Amino acid sequence: MLADELPVSWDQLFAAAGAPQQALTVGNVGCPLQLSLGLSAWKSFNGNRWALRCNPSSGNLHPTEGYLICPDLPGLPAGVHHYRSDQHGLERRASAPFAWSGGVLLALTGIHWREAWKYGMRAFRYCQHDCGHALAALSYAAALLGWPARLLADWGDDEIAALTGLDRAADFPAIEPEAAEALLWIGPGEPPTAAPVLSSLSGAPWSGLANALSPKHRDWPDIPAVAAATRKPGGINALLARREPLPALAQASSAPASRLIRGRRSAQAFDGITPVAAPRFYRMLDALLPRAGQPPWSLLQEAPCVHPVLFVHRVDGLEPGIYCLVRAPGALQALRAAMRPDWLWQRVAGCPDHLPLYLLAPLDTRRFAATASCHQAIAADGAFMLAMLARFDDISPARPWLYRQRFWEAGMLGQVLYLEAEASGIQGTGIGCYFDDVVHRALELDTERFQDLYHFTVGTAMIDARLGSEAGYA
Ligand SMILES: Cc1cc2nc3c(=O)[nH]c(=O)nc-3n(C[C@H](O)[C@H](O)[C@H](O)COP(=O)(O)O)c2cc1C
Repeated sequence: MLADELPVSWDQLFAAAGAPQQALTVGNVGCPLQLSLGLSAWKSFNGNRWALRCNPSSGNLHPTEGYLICPDLPGLPAGVHHYRSDQHGLERRASAPFAWSGGVLLALTGIHWREAWKYGMRAFRYCQHDCGHALAALSYAAALLGWPARLLADWGDDEIAALTGLDRAADFPAIEPEAAEALLWIGPGEPPTAAPVLSSLSGAPWSGLANALSPKHRDWPDIPAVAAATRKPGGINALLARREPLPALAQASSAPASRLIRGRRSAQAFDGITPVAAPRFYRMLDALLPRAGQPPWSLLQEAPCVHPVLFVHRVDGLEPGIYCLVRAPGALQALRAAMRPDWLWQRVAGCPDHLPLYLLAPLDTRRFAATASCHQAIAADGAFMLAMLARFDDISPARPWLYRQRFWEAGMLGQVLYLEAEASGIQGTGIGCYFDDVVHRALELDTERFQDLYHFTVGTAMIDARLGSEAGYA
């Protein structure tokens, strides 16, 4: 089955009952893969043709790979399988007698070189953003089948590498290693623990060799250094946070969720005119608050650590200016103390009571937003741009992997905004190219406590009618 046939609306994903729970079959397991890492379209222009995927990626370079690890399913033998986006197919890496029930494991990995050949050192950050987008994409896609998705925070990077065969150095081009990122459990049951899963794999027959992207390479030694410094050991759990009860999300769209997901596109230009209606704007921000049991925030168990500062240009009924959305109730004091003392921190008239949105300063910030986003016009011409401030004071030598996870969280916020924008009939674009120092200076931000990790912009897109478009899978 292709996910196109799932009759689940966008709004149904957030309703108390959720989508009806589907059986764990190989066809159904394919849907979350298709709606996250799968192709969404082929575009063409002037004789060039390129594929796009359901998950976005900096430069469309797609460093993130996916592995399905499953027990015997009708039509699919138990083992470790690599997902091939181009074919919407699986290739077997290892057979193993996994015998759990009630769900599958899904691992995400990243090939830094795919971004580094173009972006150099910044590639490490982009790979983490991309992983965050893919995590959220998988969570939404699993929710379409009525399956919960959960990040298995207790697995270490070496364990994920052993599970996916990344530690089999001879299977990968030496110069293009693949790094373990995240492991998810998808399904209604309880996940197995690492030790029995890995022991089922001992002595397993492995097959397959990874492709090489480039014949030539340039070294970016900081990338392996940062990767090594931010590795996560096994056996460490996330710090569980209590989820505050929140009112149900307002309705956004009765369109089929799979259509919105496959139709998601990054805007390349905005019209610079059309405002967003305030209720739409509030719904998009509301979807950034963590609600228990709802995608994609049910994936994470920690309190939110990323808080957007918004540069509002065109929202009906809202003064243009700088705003802050405080995603965790306890973070208000810390954010206030870390920024300019003369910001207003005023509640916004007409904003739903439960939405912790504060006006910092009424101001026309269009030029600033573009400048701070590497002079990209999309940051000024949309309805609003946001800079994601991530907590930094708890990233320590004792928990260095939190550095990577903060980028994942920022990427997840980006994915929510992409899809919420589509549900509102407009578009978004992730902005990985931005000047963090410029934002830090403008906010007089204490960078020991918070840093700007990602930008995002939302507005009414100008569609380039010259591009040809075909379905992802013929
Ligand atoms: C982490 C990240 C950073 C991005 N940075 C930029 C950017 O700075 N400027 C831009 O125009 N697009 C940016 N994009 C959008 C990508 O170019 C886009 O996702 C890619 O071309 C694929 O197109 P699609 O999103 O329509 O599938 C970014 C996307 C991601 C996920």
